[in-house]
Amino acid sequence: MLRHKHCNMALIAPSMLSADFMKLGAEIEMVNNSEADWFHLDVMDGRFVPNISYGMSIIAQMKKMARKTFDVHLMIQEPEKYLQEFKNAGADYLTVHYENGYHIHRTLTSIKALGMKAGLAINPHTPVDMVADIIHEVDLLLVMSINPGFGGQKFLPLTYNKIRRAKEIITQAGAGTLIEIDGGVTLDNAVDIIGAGADVLVAGNTVFASADPAETIKRLKQAGK
Ligand code: DX5
Ligand code: ZN
Repeated sequence: MLRHKHCNMALIAPSMLSADFMKLGAEIEMVNNSEADWFHLDVMDGRFVPNISYGMSIIAQMKKMARKTFDVHLMIQEPEKYLQEFKNAGADYLTVHYENGYHIHRTLTSIKALGMKAGLAINPHTPVDMVADIIHEVDLLLVMSINPGFGGQKFLPLTYNKIRRAKEIITQAGAGTLIEIDGGVTLDNAVDIIGAGADVLVAGNTVFASADPAETIKRLKQAGK
């Protein structure tokens, strides 16, 4: 039997880690005026990941100018200490790593109690099944498709099975969780990633190292059509 081809347009979240910080205002304006859906903001502490990026003060300044959803990805130890501060800085989605918490369920409910959407990220080595029991508390499941810490790395193909498994778990639970893929997303693999079940694509290097970032965002957006 012939099936209708579904239109699975994904949300696009440019990662500002790859933006040119010497012209950050212009980069934010480019995203504002593009077909991007969210701003993806990577916070790194040099402990959970081997890199240090930026924190709440930069995010708060960016928020003054940005006109789209702020998707804040915390790659820091003890993220539960800073939930209120990231809320104040303008986070709409606040994502913590599964690998970073003894009481992830509590952290997710605290994020939501502060009025944000709760995100949970898993590193490549973490099986999706580890989060199955708390999936109802997860608004956004961020499946890392690289080892976190740096932009411009190569997408790990093991991610495809994880996306399909995440989709099964979410569907079986009847949860409304969005699946976000972060790391090594390109114009070449976007169609397959969306086909496996991704709802949100993060893209840093692919967008900001391209000759025409707004056009690249548009092409990523069209990948799911
Ligand atoms: C890496 C970050 C990513 C990074 C993605 O730890 O979580 O958001 O910016 O960059 P690309 O798209 O270049 O792999
Ligand atoms: Zn990220």
